[in-house]
Amino acid sequence: MYRTHTCGELNLNDAGKDVILCGWIQKSRDLGGMTFTDLRDRYGITQLVFNMETDASLCEKARKTGREFVIQAKGRVKERSNKNPKIPTGDIEIEVSEINILNPSELPPFTIEEETDGGDELRMKYRYLDLRRAPVKNNLILRHRMAQEVRKYLDSKEFIEVETPFLIKSTPEGARDFIVPSRMQPGTFYALPQSPQTLKQLLMVAGFDRYFQIVRCFRDEDLRADRQPEFSQIDCEMSFMTRDEILDTFEGLIKYLFNKIKNISFTEPFRRISYAEAMELYGTDKPDLRFGMKIYDLTEVVKGHGFSVFDTSEFTGAICVSGCADYTRKQIDELTDFVKRPQIGAKGLIYLRYGNDGTLRSSVDKFYSREDLEIWAEKTGAGQGDLILVISGERIKTLSALSELRLEMGNRLGLRKRDNYMPLWVVDFPLLEWNEEEKRFFAMHHPFTSPKPEDIPLMETDPGKVRANAYDLVINGVEIGGGSVRIHDSSLQKLMFKALGFTDEEAVEQFGFLMNAFRYGAPPHGGIAFGFDRLVAMFGGQDSIRDFIAFPKNNAGRDVMLDTPAPVSEKQLHELMIDFRKKKE
Ligand code: AMO
Repeated sequence: MYRTHTCGELNLNDAGKDVILCGWIQKSRDLGGMTFTDLRDRYGITQLVFNMETDASLCEKARKTGREFVIQAKGRVKERSNKNPKIPTGDIEIEVSEINILNPSELPPFTIEEETDGGDELRMKYRYLDLRRAPVKNNLILRHRMAQEVRKYLDSKEFIEVETPFLIKSTPEGARDFIVPSRMQPGTFYALPQSPQTLKQLLMVAGFDRYFQIVRCFRDEDLRADRQPEFSQIDCEMSFMTRDEILDTFEGLIKYLFNKIKNISFTEPFRRISYAEAMELYGTDKPDLRFGMKIYDLTEVVKGHGFSVFDTSEFTGAICVSGCADYTRKQIDELTDFVKRPQIGAKGLIYLRYGNDGTLRSSVDKFYSREDLEIWAEKTGAGQGDLILVISGERIKTLSALSELRLEMGNRLGLRKRDNYMPLWVVDFPLLEWNEEEKRFFAMHHPFTSPKPEDIPLMETDPGKVRANAYDLVINGVEIGGGSVRIHDSSLQKLMFKALGFTDEEAVEQFGFLMNAFRYGAPPHGGIAFGFDRLVAMFGGQDSIRDFIAFPKNNAGRDVMLDTPAPVSEKQLHELMIDFRKKKE
C-alpha cells in the first residue's frame, strides 16, 4: 500500500494512529535537532517531523531530500505543540519512522507555494508545476464542480448530452476558422467548430428536443484576458419553447449554480433590458449594474452657446460621479488621458464641478452661464459635491467612451466589488450590423437568428432596424452567454441570407445541409451557449480565464509548454500535398 491517508485529512482525532502518506516536499526547515517538512498532495499539506535524537540516520536521509521530491513517509500522528490554524491539518504532525524516496526532483524553476516568484511565461512553460500550486489547482477543482452541477441541473430538466464532431465545415460565429487539411482528399479542409451551432439545430430537427454539451469551441481571433483560441461552452438547444421559456430555463441554471457553488440565492427574476436601452443608459451591450452612474444625453442642452465642439457633435453625453467635486486638476487630467487613449478614442473630456458650497465650475465656463450649468446639473441629477464628466463626438464612439469612463470611475470608487453579482439579460439585439468596409450587412449573432415577428416586414425595406429574438446573459459587465430563437422556416431563412448578401448558390454551398434539413419538419427551436471558462472565472473572482484552464495558450496563441504551433515535417506536408514555399521564378 502506498498510502493510508492523504495529506489533507488528518486531525487531532487521528492522534496516535500509524499512517503512511505520499506526496511532494513543499519545503523543509532544519532546526538542528529537528527537521520539519511540509508534505503536499492534491488534498492539502501535512507537517512531517524528524528528530535527530530518536533517529539520526533517518534525519540525515530527510535532509538529503529537496523541494518537490516525491516521498512516502510512515509514522505516527501527534498533536503539534506549535499549531497552525490556517490549514485543516494544522493541529497535528507526523513523527516519521521511515521515509522512502519515490522520485527525486530537480530544483523547480519557481517556488511552488500559494504565492510564487514565477512570472507568467515561466509558469506557463512549466504548467504541470504551476498546477501543483493551491490557487491554480483550486480553480480546476471549482471548474470540475461546476461542470458536475451543470450536468445535474440539465439532466434533471430532461436535457440530453450529445457529442458533436470537431472535424466539420465552417460555422458562422464571426471569427476566423482553424482549418485542418484532409489527407484522404488532398486540397480540401475541415474547419474546427467555432461552436456546434448548426449541429445542435440539426439535433432539434432530429427530435431531441432538449440538448446540451459542455463542448470545446475553436476561434482564431485576437486574444484577451477573457478569450482563448479554444474555450468551452455550455451549449444548449430546446424545441417548442418561447423566448421567455428559454430564458427562464437558463436563468434557472445560473441561479442553481450560484446557489450550489457560491451559496448565493437570487430570489427575484434577473433584470431584462433591451439592447437599445443598454446602449443609451450605459453605452455598452454588457453593462455592469453593480453601480448606477448612468449616461445622460446632453446633446441638445449644450448646443448653441458658441462652443464649437458641442455645437458640431452628433452626440454629447455625461455621467454624474457622486461626491467627486473635489477631484483635483491632476486627477481630471488623468481621466482626460484615459479617455484619449487610442483604444477609447475620445477627443477630450469636459468637467463640471458642483462644489459643496454651491459653486458650479466647468472647463467651458466662458461659453456657459451659471443658469446653463444648472441645467446640466438638473439633467444629470447632480447635486452639491458631485462631478459631471462630459464627452462629445460621434454617437456610438462617444457612448462607448462614456461606458469606459463609467467603469474606470466605478473602479476608482470601489463600486465594482467582486463578491457582488448583478446578472441581467440584454434582449432584442439588432438582427444585422452594417459593415462599412465591406459595404454589407453581417448577422450580429449568426445567420440562423430569427427576427422579432413584428419586424419581419422591415427585412426588405430597412434591414438595419430589424430587431432579433436574441439575448445575452451579462454578469458584472462580462458577456457570460448568448443565444437566440432560431429561424426554422426556410422562406424566412432565405430572406435572411438575402439580407446578408448571399446569392442562392452561396447559401446552398455553405448551409445547404441545414436548409435541406429544414425541408423535413424543423420544429420551432432556440437556445443559448454560456462561456464556461468565463463563468468559472467569475465564480472564482477573477477577470482572466487563463488560470481556470489546465493548459491554456498565451496571448500570442502559443502553448509555450508544448512549444506549439510548430512546423511539421516535409513528409507530412507531402502527404497532405501542401507546399507553401515561395516558388523561385
Ligand atoms: P457566442 O459566440 O455568443 O454564441 O458564444 C457564447 C459564449 O461563449 C463565450 N466565448 C468565449 N469564451 C472564451 N474565449 C472565447 N474566444 C470566446 N468566444 C465566446 C462568451 C459567449 O457569450 N452558437 C452561439 C450560441 C447560440 O446561439 O446558442 C454562440 O457560440 O461567454
